[in-house]
Amino acid sequence: MRASQYFISTLKEAPSDADIVSQKLMLRAGFIRKVAAGIYSYLPIGLRVIRKVENIVRDEMNRAGALELSMPLVQPAELWDETGRWEKMGAEMLRFKDRHDRGFALQPTSEEVVTDIARQELKSYRQLPKNFYQIQTKFRDERRPRFGVMRGREFTMKDAYSFDRDVEAAGRSYDAMYAAYCRIFDRLGLTYRAVAADTGAIGGDRSHEFQVIADTGEDAIVYCPDSDYAANIELAEALPLVGSRAAPSKALEKTPTPGKATCVDVAELLGVPLATTVKSLVLATDDVDDAGKPAGVTVWLLLVRGDHNLNEVKASKVPGLKSGFRFATEGEIVEHFGCTPGYLGPIGLKNAVKIVADRTVANMADFICGANEADFHFTGANWGRDLPEPDLVADLRNVVEGDPSPDGKGTLAIQRGIEVGHVFYLGTKYSKSMNATFLDEDGRPKPFEMGCYGIGITRILGAAIEQNYDARGIIWPDAIAPFRVVVCPVGWGKSEAVRTEATKLYAHLLAAGVDAILDDRDERPGVMFADWELIGVPHRVVIGERGLKEGMAEYLGRRDCDATKVAIGDLAAFVDAKLQSA
Ligand SMILES: Nc1ncnc2c1ncn2[C@@H]1O[C@H](COP(=O)(O)OP(=O)(O)O)[C@@H](O)[C@H]1O
Ligand SMILES: [Mg+2]
Repeated sequence: MRASQYFISTLKEAPSDADIVSQKLMLRAGFIRKVAAGIYSYLPIGLRVIRKVENIVRDEMNRAGALELSMPLVQPAELWDETGRWEKMGAEMLRFKDRHDRGFALQPTSEEVVTDIARQELKSYRQLPKNFYQIQTKFRDERRPRFGVMRGREFTMKDAYSFDRDVEAAGRSYDAMYAAYCRIFDRLGLTYRAVAADTGAIGGDRSHEFQVIADTGEDAIVYCPDSDYAANIELAEALPLVGSRAAPSKALEKTPTPGKATCVDVAELLGVPLATTVKSLVLATDDVDDAGKPAGVTVWLLLVRGDHNLNEVKASKVPGLKSGFRFATEGEIVEHFGCTPGYLGPIGLKNAVKIVADRTVANMADFICGANEADFHFTGANWGRDLPEPDLVADLRNVVEGDPSPDGKGTLAIQRGIEVGHVFYLGTKYSKSMNATFLDEDGRPKPFEMGCYGIGITRILGAAIEQNYDARGIIWPDAIAPFRVVVCPVGWGKSEAVRTEATKLYAHLLAAGVDAILDDRDERPGVMFADWELIGVPHRVVIGERGLKEGMAEYLGRRDCDATKVAIGDLAAFVDAKLQSA
């Protein structure tokens, strides 16, 4: 590519509504332009990166035996009705009607359509296993689209769906995808971690997210440096930090804590460690009777240690909270606790409340909690003596750095990650509800065992940048750089020798199949260098008149501090070697 014929549109400043580095750099480097919230155009140079990501993904999916197809962006309500998801998906699914008043949606994912294909096409166990995938536009009307392509509303996803005879075969399909994902993210040149993830209603332990490590990531990922334990914080098990409950050593006392409505403030006022306090969180469930009619409200008090945080995913697994909960209203709180939030606790409740203690809280003695009276806390509170044992003990909290690893092999560390891929065992959830069966060897119809496997193609651009940039711009991994090498002639317009040498190297690179660009725009060196550093081309060669007089050119890797002088006669071989080792 010659830059004079290409489209380079860099900006000095990013638009003011861009909030993270990758989004700013993608805008400044001319990769994307915003059309509406969470909706972008990809300019030619941005699309080059997307195509490179897609090609690696496609290559490895094919290698793993998956078969590419394409499913419609616009999908009919009837199919989504079969699984009940037309109702369940909520506002994230963008719906509309056609001229005949029939309901349609833009695909946020494609389980229904692919399961419909399977039930029509895969009749016999002999046709299994099958794994169908597409690289397609998805639309999710995200409540808070942000961070550019990272959480867009329109984005590109690779989504794959496997169909198997039985659980064991489905496990093999899952493992094959897991391995393919490792190859994909290795080839993309990203630092990542595969972490165990929540399986929601499906259950089991077959769900892994592939997380690109970056401080700006939306996910907290937990790992053990001394073992291979790694999990999303939503899932990571928190062990009790107190081995067994000590005997009470203090008397229960109602202690004035005027204006101190948080555990942090109370601990500070009383001069005690935060870990001696207990935090109260009040939830409510709207109960229904067997006929599905409203049957009152149950109020729940969840207790975690003052220095811990409630994990809502874990809370949603507590028996009684599984079918959904909400935070209690102020009215409900006053009715049950006789007090407004800030001084709530488990002792002396006015009305029946279900008390669930985190594992650590259940083992605490002489703890501090709200006294259900404004401006007062209890100190020296003890289970069994001052209040009944909790109704339930459960893992309710997020793990924190330094917690014991659930595998018993050390302590936990936490880092931030960007979820770029997800592999998920689905079981028969979709095949059963859509009556998608095949005839097994014994002649009986059986529902397919399924798995689904996503990769956020466009999100990968943002994630790669969050992991690889400096003050001057993007630093693309070689595998997905829009161009791998830029040849920068200094004095293109006025020097025949510069033109000759620059064109020669460029032709050599093209002949070798290298994605190279020749900057023949005749820009000043400062402008030229700033553009390519911003765009993030990993290898740069500068050929100028002054150097040529000494028979030299200059090579600079995007991460190098200093350029290397190379004799013009050795230049092609030198660049080849750099590309080889990159
Ligand atoms: N709004 C979005 N913008 C860009 N990429 C997304 C978005 N939502 C999901 N993805 C990508 O698609 C992959 C598969 O999606 P999925 O696991 O179904 O999404 P989620 O984890 O949000 O439920 C994710 O791992 C992520 O890389
Ligand atoms: Mg996911």
